[in-house]
Parts: sequence; structure tokens; C-alpha cells
Amino acid sequence: MKLLLLFVCLCSLVYCQRQPADLLASSNPCISKQSCGECIRTPTCAWCSQPNFTTPDGSAIPRCNQESRYLGYQLPVRCELPYIVNPGSEYFVRQDMMLTRAIEGKEAVQIRPQRISLKLRLYEAYDLFLQYAQAEDYPVDLYYLMDLSKSMEDDKDKLSELGLLLAERMQNITSNFRLGFGSFVDKVVMPYVSTVPANLREPCPGCAAPYGYHNVMPLSLDTYRFANQVKRAAVSGNLDAPEGGFDAIMQAVVCKEQIAWRDRARRLLVFSTDAGFHYAGDGKLGGIVKPNDGKCHLENGQYTHSTIQDYPSVSQINQKVKENSINLIFAVTADQLPVYEQLSNQVEGAFAGKLDQDSSNVVELVKEQYDKISSFVELKDNATSHVRVTYFSSCLSGGAPVQTNKCDGLKVGTVVNFTAKIEAVSCPTDPREWNQLLQIYPVGINESLILDLELLCSCDCEKPGNNGYKEEAEECNGVGTLKCGVCDCDDTHFGRVCECDNNDSINVVDSEAGCRPDNTTDILCNDRGACVCGECQCYARPNPLEVVSGPYCECDNFLCENNNGLLCSGPDHGTCVCGECQCLPGWTGSDCSCRDTIDTCIPPGGGEVCSGKGECICGTCECVENEQGRYSGKYCEECPTCPGKCLEYKACVQCQVFNSGELKGDDCRNCTFVPISVDVAQPENDDEKLCSFYDDDNCRFTFVYGYGENGEPVVRVQKTKECPPILDILGIVLGVVGAIVAVGFALLLIWKFLTVLHDRREFARFEKERQMAKWDTGENPIYKQATSTFKNPTYGGK
Ligand SMILES: *[C@@H]1O[C@H](CO)[C@@H](O)[C@H](O)[C@H]1NC(C)=O
Ligand SMILES: *[C@@H]1O[C@H](CO)[C@@H](O)[C@H](O)[C@H]1NC(C)=O
Ligand SMILES: *[C@@H]1O[C@H](CO)[C@@H](O)[C@H](O)[C@H]1NC(C)=O
Ligand SMILES: *[C@@H]1O[C@H](CO)[C@@H](O)[C@H](O)[C@H]1NC(C)=O
Ligand SMILES: *[C@@H]1O[C@H](CO)[C@@H](O)[C@H](O)[C@H]1NC(C)=O
Ligand SMILES: *[C@@H]1O[C@H](CO)[C@@H](O)[C@H](O)[C@H]1NC(C)=O
Ligand SMILES: *[C@@H]1O[C@H](CO)[C@@H](O)[C@H](O)[C@H]1NC(C)=O
Ligand SMILES: *[C@@H]1O[C@H](CO)[C@@H](O)[C@H](O)[C@H]1NC(C)=O
Repeated sequence: MKLLLLFVCLCSLVYCQRQPADLLASSNPCISKQSCGECIRTPTCAWCSQPNFTTPDGSAIPRCNQESRYLGYQLPVRCELPYIVNPGSEYFVRQDMMLTRAIEGKEAVQIRPQRISLKLRLYEAYDLFLQYAQAEDYPVDLYYLMDLSKSMEDDKDKLSELGLLLAERMQNITSNFRLGFGSFVDKVVMPYVSTVPANLREPCPGCAAPYGYHNVMPLSLDTYRFANQVKRAAVSGNLDAPEGGFDAIMQAVVCKEQIAWRDRARRLLVFSTDAGFHYAGDGKLGGIVKPNDGKCHLENGQYTHSTIQDYPSVSQINQKVKENSINLIFAVTADQLPVYEQLSNQVEGAFAGKLDQDSSNVVELVKEQYDKISSFVELKDNATSHVRVTYFSSCLSGGAPVQTNKCDGLKVGTVVNFTAKIEAVSCPTDPREWNQLLQIYPVGINESLILDLELLCSCDCEKPGNNGYKEEAEECNGVGTLKCGVCDCDDTHFGRVCECDNNDSINVVDSEAGCRPDNTTDILCNDRGACVCGECQCYARPNPLEVVSGPYCECDNFLCENNNGLLCSGPDHGTCVCGECQCLPGWTGSDCSCRDTIDTCIPPGGGEVCSGKGECICGTCECVENEQGRYSGKYCEECPTCPGKCLEYKACVQCQVFNSGELKGDDCRNCTFVPISVDVAQPENDDEKLCSFYDDDNCRFTFVYGYGENGEPVVRVQKTKECPPILDILGIVLGVVGAIVAVGFALLLIWKFLTVLHDRREFARFEKERQMAKWDTGENPIYKQATSTFKNPTYGGK
């Protein structure tokens, strides 16, 4: 039984929640969408391309809605499943080779999968799982780019000594290692290099002529040659402190063939210097204003555009380094390190390391930087602003994935898992960009995952050659193209099925103007109807009794004030017209709940409405207020200072209830009311008045009077009177006399006591004095001599 009850409760709850959801249809984001493409760009919306998607009476139903609504009961017409366009993300792996090292002519695979196709709806994220592992024995190309100004002479010698060791170290890492060497000084113009003819020949004692950049030895397996070439390279001299290193980096990066970078190899470019660098804009000093074009200009190993083009900018370097997957290592002296560290933050995959004054630590430095580079993976992509890619990985920790695109501490062969969350955030305006090629790549490695991304910004049925696309369709009266169930009319027609002709009376440019309530809104027909030939056709409601109407569908007959759940207090009080209650005769008020009559405001004995002291509002009196206060009573008959009816009713109450007072016996019958006896008489509302009087016995009796339904007096009397207690006068008199006597007696006693006490003290003192007196016993203390001596105070004694 309890279960049944619970079930009923739950059902009614669900039912109640469904009702408002239906009323709030205007907040449904789908309904206002007018084309299939627009519809599917909105999350959760689906398009119905069913022909004739109208109610039985021909009015249009919004075609964009939640799929569940098409299939559910809410709509008057069901959209059949084959006509519902609600594409979801689709994913198809096109190439997924195992992660492997290079074997027998086959290249190593370090990222998987390699190629996938993805169809993506707006705001629907797709989680792409991908793995990266550094292949064992992966080829390494190391190109050593050296500043050969005079101060680097000792470094050069050291490098030549260490060349073999460097090769050996690297060959320990990979069996496939190639080494190359290049050098640079600066642009051969003032003020970078002294152009005095003698200095041009030999800028410093034993120096070679200055040059921009020289690719001395392309990458090669011959490591002995490296040592030789480095030894033979001649140092040169320049004037200012910074060098033309950027020119050299640019050429070394972009001249893929001349440097002989391999496609599949870790490309390391070690840039070694003890000075700063010139960058874009500095060329102006030498009168070189043409910006760097980022192209390869090498002839016979010499940079030909040194004096033609400006230095490249940092972002140009970064761009090219990225494109060519190069790992740039700045090996610089301690004083230059802070600058190059900052520079390395601006260039993808770059690192900076400290080189000793004489380059003696170069082998350790390269090994260390290589280890750093190879134990680190960072994923990047070239997504446009329309697509957002976020990476998650737990790296090697094995815990829950966190948002990161970098992992550290990798070893050869360890597999790192990444999840790339791909999300389309907007549709490009150019439809050609709806199909994109997206690349996700580990920084510094020429391998990537290619994503053929299709943004679902339009429906197939909007494109020629697909089902649901029909030109000059008879559904559109032969003058429009049917796309996904709606007509796209030609220039001379408009309307839902192109039934409207363009004639002068209708604004051709803006045929929808007639459907907008005013020019401040873009919303047609208040979102509750379709705009047909410049006029609104309001949508039908699921409940046939509910009707939307008005030129802009601004009216309806179901959103009015309601009273106790009844629209306009029910059909017998009024009807709902365009959001306002129209009351039937006899009723008034915003919800038709008031009687439209003043009869109930006229006092029973007749007279003015509300005794002329108030207004009759909704059948009851609202009394006016003056300086003394507010008139009161059901008919405002009582003025603020009036005694009221207390006195008038007093006699009747006394007679009928207590059988006393001025009226006696049968006279009571003349009373206009029959009082009700209650235990406690208290006013229950403002209209009631409390009266209380003392009767002949000095007893207080209390009653309350008010008015009943029909204005007849209603009097409630408290059953019991409050009488004063009867006094015992003799007792009081005796008591008072007794009290006075007692007080007098007490006073006498106190006086007596005090005098006795005083006498005793006096006597005790006398006794004491008497005992202490030491006079001659022969002498009578009472005896006084007959002669006395007096002294005259004015007598001077002369
Ligand atoms: C659509 O309506 C037109 C005219 O009202 C009618 O001729 C046609 O058969 C209808 N098509 C369908 C699929 O109901
Ligand atoms: C190369 O590795 C071997 C063994 O792994 C080691 O003995 C040798 O010292 C290493 N050579 C260099 C130059 O590090
Ligand atoms: C990367 O490798 C591919 C072949 O796998 C090659 O065609 C491409 O040119 C290489 N990219 C660069 C920047 O070297
Ligand atoms: C990477 O994913 C594979 C396959 O899902 C799993 O076997 C492996 O343990 C994962 N590796 C890490 C480090 O989470
Ligand atoms: C991303 O890179 C790939 C390969 O280089 C290129 O084909 C594609 O057009 C690029 N995509 C974008 C959106 O730039
Ligand atoms: C527009 O033209 C159609 C047919 O040509 C006609 O039936 C309709 O009355 C015209 N409307 C107005 C407003 O003139
Ligand atoms: C809107 O219409 C009013 C009167 O029709 C006009 O005065 C006003 O300039 C219009 N505003 C705009 C933005 O078109
Ligand atoms: C009561 O009514 C009777 C007749 O209706 C009348 O004679 C008598 O005086 C009235 N008594 C009082 C106290 O008004």
C-alpha cells in the first residue's frame, strides 16, 4: 500500500515537472534555428527533414528540436527516424602502425596512430588516444655551428681535439650518427666588420678574411674529417660585439639539402658562441633594409645574401625551427647564458647550456643536452582557433591523467600515453575550412599524427547530390531548391514553399520585416510562429485548446493570471485573451476573482456605500484614513474616535447572558441579536471590537462584536464576569487598631529599655569614681570652706 502511494507521488511529480518544461519551449535553443546547418551547430539539436512537417491544419512546426521531442509525444506530428538529421562524431583510423625501431630499410615509428579521420560536431569533444615512444637506435644528426671570431680560437682548437670523442660518445647512443660543421662571423659591411681594405684581407694577425656564414662540412659519417675540418677552419675578426649568428642559424635550418639533414633523424643544431647576436632591424645600421625571407641561399657552402638581407627575427627562427623539427642547443659562455636562456624559451625545442671558456666541456654539454632532449616529449599541434586541442597524460606516473602536453624522464622504448581532447568551438565562415588537416607532433621530431578533420557545420542534405537536396522541386512550387525539407526560393519568390511573389508592397530586401514586432529585435513572430509571405503563422500547440495568435504571435490564451490553479478563476469567471483576463459580467479584478457588485459594501440598514467613508473594492470596503486614524468596521461605519456599539449592545448582553442590568426579563426579546457565550472573548480580526463594562456589583464583563456574512451583528460574550473579592471591614479596622497599639507598645518598650540602659551606665560610672576617690577620710567631701578667693581679671597686679 505504501509502495503504491509512493509510486503515485512520484508519477505526479514527474508529470508536474513536464508541464512547465513544455511552457518554456521558448527557452529551447533549437526552436529558433531556421536551417539544418544552423541547427546541428547547436548542441543537442536535431533537424527534421521530413516533407510536409506540419500539423494536420497546415501550420508549420519548428524543424529544429531535441531528438527526443521528435520521437516523443509532445509534438502533434512525429518526425520519422530516417528524416531526423542528428550527426554525431565519427572516427576512423586510417593508419595505425606499431611503435617500432628502424629495421631493414623501414623507418622507425615513434607515434601511433599515424592517420585518422574524424567528423566532429560543434562542442562535442572527442578523446583521441595516442602513444609515443622514443625508438631505440634512432638516427642522430648533429651540426656544429661555431662562432669563428678571434676570441673563439682556443675553442676551435679544443673542439678539433674533442671531435673524435664527441663522435664516439654519440655513437654509443646510436649506431647511426652523423656530424657536420659550419662557422660564421658577421655581415661584411660597416659597422659590423671593418671595411678598410687591409682589414678586409686580414682583420687580425693570422686571421682569414671575414665572411657571413660558411657551411664547412655537411653532415657525414666521416668523423675524422670533422676533426680535420675544424682544425683547418681559420678564425676571422669583426668590429662590434654581437655576431651574425642568426643568419647562420637560419641557413643551417632551412638548407636541408646542403646541410644534408635526414628526414627521419633527431636533428641537433649546436650553436656555440661567446658573444651576443644581431637580430632583425640591426641590418639598418649597415644600410640593409630588405627583410630576411627565410629561404636557403647557399652557394658552394657560402651564404650569398649576407649583405642583401637583414638578420632574421626571433619568431622567424622559431617558425623555421618548428617547420624543420630541429633541436637547437645554445652552447654559450657563462656571461652570455642568461640571454640565450631567454632566447631558448622563445624557440620551440631549444635548450641553452654553459660552455667553458675554451670549450673543453663541449662533449659533456652535448651529451647532457641530448639526454635532456631525448628524455622529454612535448606534443604540439597546428590547430586553428576553431578547434581546441587539450592534452592529458599521466606520463610515467601511472596515476590519473592530468592536463599536460609534456612528459619528462623518458627512456628509450618507454611508451607514454596521451589523450588529446579535440573539440570544435566554432564554424569557420569559409566552408572550405570545414575540412581541415590537423597535425599533432612531438616537438623536434619529424613524425606526426595527421588528423583529417571534418567539422559538421552543414548537413549533407544541404549539398547537391545528396538525398534531401532537390533543385526546382515541386514541393517548392518549382521555383526553389528543397534542402533538408525546407525551400530555398529563387530571387522572385519567398515563403515556406516559395508561394509568395515579390511584389512592391512587400519589402523585397527584408521580407521578414512584417514578422518582427519592432525594429529592435531579430526574433521573428516571438519565436512562436513561422514567417510566411511577410506574415506570421503561429505554431500550433500540443493541446488543441491552447491557441497562439496575434500579428506577431504575441498573444495566447494560456498564460494569464490564475487563481487557485484556475486560469482567470475558471471559465465561469472569465477567459484569457492575449495574456489578460477578460471577465464575464458580474466579475472583475485582474484574475476575475472579484464580484463586480457594491451590494456587499452597503450597510444592512441601507445607506451609502461603505458608509461614505471608504471604497468598495472587490466586494469589501477599504476605509479611508483621517488625522485621528482609520475608519473601521465592515462598512467603515466606525469613526476612529467613536465609542462604537459597545454602549448600545451593553444592555442586551447583560440582560441575555447575565440576566441583570437595565433590561429585565421579557424586554430582552427586543434585542436584535443573540449573543454567543465563549470562554474568552478576544477580537479575531480588525473589524471586531472589544467592549468591557462594570455592572452594579462592580463585576467586569467583556464581549466582542462584529458582523456576519450578511451584515448582521455577531456578539461573543465571555461566560464569566471578573468580580472584585469581598472585603472583611471589621477585620481591617481591628487589624489597623491592633497594629497601631502594637507599634505604640513597642515604642514604649524601646524607650524604657534605653532609659534603663542609661541609668545603669551612670550608676556604674558613679561607683567607679567613688572607688577611685582618695580623699582624707576626715574630710567631708561635701564640706566647703566658708572663704573663697576671687581674682580680678582687670587688676594688673601693680
Ligand atoms: C505534401 O503535401 C502536398 C500538398 O499538400 C501533397 O501533394 C503531398 O502528397 C504531401 N506529401 C507527403 C509526403 O505527405
Ligand atoms: C661507450 O659505451 C661503452 C659501454 O657501454 C663504454 O665502455 C665506453 O666508455 C663508452 N664510450 C664513451 C666514449 O662514452
Ligand atoms: C619529414 O619526413 C618526410 C618523410 O617522412 C619528408 O617528406 C619531409 O620533408 C620531412 N620534413 C622535414 C621538415 O624535413
Ligand atoms: C598505455 O596504454 C596501454 C594500452 O592502453 C597500457 O597497456 C599501458 O599500461 C599504458 N601505459 C601507461 C604508462 O599508462
Ligand atoms: C597543419 O599541418 C599540416 C602538415 O604540415 C598541413 O597540411 C595543414 O594544412 C596544417 N593545418 C593547419 C590548420 O594549418
Ligand atoms: C502580390 O502578388 C500576388 C500575385 O502576384 C497577389 O496575389 C497578391 O495580392 C499581391 N500582394 C500584394 C500585397 O499586392
Ligand atoms: C525603428 O523604427 C522607428 C519608427 O518606425 C524609427 O524612428 C527608428 O529610427 C527605427 N530604428 C532603427 C534602428 O531602425
Ligand atoms: C419592547 O417592545 C415592546 C413592543 O414591541 C414595547 O412595548 C416595549 O416598550 C419595548 N421595550 C423596550 C425596553 O424598548
